[in-house]
Amino acid sequence: MLATTAVEHEFPFAAWTRQTRQSALREILALVSRPGLLSFALGMPAPEFFPVSAYTGAARHVLTTEPDALQYGMPLGCLRRHVVQLMARRGVRCTEDEVFITSGAQQAMSLLGQLLVSPGDPLVTEELTYDGMVNALRPLQPRVLTVPCNPRTGMDVGALEALLESGERPALIYTIPEGHNPLGSSMPAGERRRLAAAARRHGVPVVEDDAYGLLNLEGEAPPAVRSFDPRWVLYVGSFSKIVAPALRTGWVVAPPDVVERLSILKQGSDLDVCTFAQRTLSSFLDREAFSTHLSELRAEYRGRRDAMLAALDAHFPAQARWHAPASGMFVWVTMPEGVDTTALLRRAVEEAGVAFVPGQAFCAAGGVRGRNALRLNFSRVNAEQIGDGIRRLGQVLHTPLTPPRESRLALVASES
Ligand SMILES: Cc1ncc(COP(=O)(O)O)c(C=O)c1O
Repeated sequence: MLATTAVEHEFPFAAWTRQTRQSALREILALVSRPGLLSFALGMPAPEFFPVSAYTGAARHVLTTEPDALQYGMPLGCLRRHVVQLMARRGVRCTEDEVFITSGAQQAMSLLGQLLVSPGDPLVTEELTYDGMVNALRPLQPRVLTVPCNPRTGMDVGALEALLESGERPALIYTIPEGHNPLGSSMPAGERRRLAAAARRHGVPVVEDDAYGLLNLEGEAPPAVRSFDPRWVLYVGSFSKIVAPALRTGWVVAPPDVVERLSILKQGSDLDVCTFAQRTLSSFLDREAFSTHLSELRAEYRGRRDAMLAALDAHFPAQARWHAPASGMFVWVTMPEGVDTTALLRRAVEEAGVAFVPGQAFCAAGGVRGRNALRLNFSRVNAEQIGDGIRRLGQVLHTPLTPPRESRLALVASES
């Protein structure tokens, strides 16, 4: 009999996974989720403002009147009609066949990315941004190009134009023009028009992530970039911040030929957005309650934002800089050069029991941009807790920084 030697095979993960590691943001979020911390870190809605009672009514209605609510289903026309109406509030005129329902904005970005990016292609985004798009595209290992961004006005459109004129031909431009995560910036209408024109001129699609566009805290937000070009700007929206994230429902507004391809792609991933979530959401949106809910939500978050701005004024060092965000859930605070907010986070957690996200976690292409900044979320905790937490954080900022001990946080920062 032949003796067989056991061969140890390496598990055959695809090549791209060898370079994967958890995103800096996700790792930091795990660290700042310790129980008992007063957290300004997580970008979550306040659970006390979930429209539980109206939503219960909507769910009961659907379960008692729509026998196929728990069945496989075709994309739902009634929810798309509601999205058409919501888009009018963002200055976008569209028809139902331009609306594609997704499992949250995250899936929208993932599908659009797969549709537009070939392996190794370049894409452009702001230097500091939410990492969802780049994360979704990891299997394709895109080359991430960045342009500077301004904490008040967002993407530097002039720098983008220069990049496109230099001959770069990115597969897409990803941007968050309203209620930017993490900067809280709002791009002026003129710059939106200019961005749409540059996309058209160079034939490069824009993915406009407007997850916070309906969470405007000061009057109306400028119209969505898509309102300036319905061919080259692909709009991404979400119900996560205005109703509830657990519904996992978002949408894309795009030309019908893009929608058709998205639909083919999505069938290969999860067949359909949860039929029950779509139907209950649609029934909820049918009710008067939605407009009232949205205006109450904005008023509550405006109150929390103002509480945070007042507390920053009272307790943060004079050299710290911030501005009032017009939309969204975040205040971006810049400290003087040389302050390392990743080291500061460790002290804030240990000495003050307060958490935030260090700015460097948002570097789209790695590097040290945002090293001296912090992102503070104001939606999740109440005004009293905001006042207390910012006071405690201010005390840490006023005491001199000791050199950071070697820590997991320092490691994360150098990796990002
Ligand atoms: C800018 C931005 N886009 C997209 C998302 C993901 O949203 P959704 O819950 O709809 O997937 C988030 C979540 O925090 C976000 O901040």
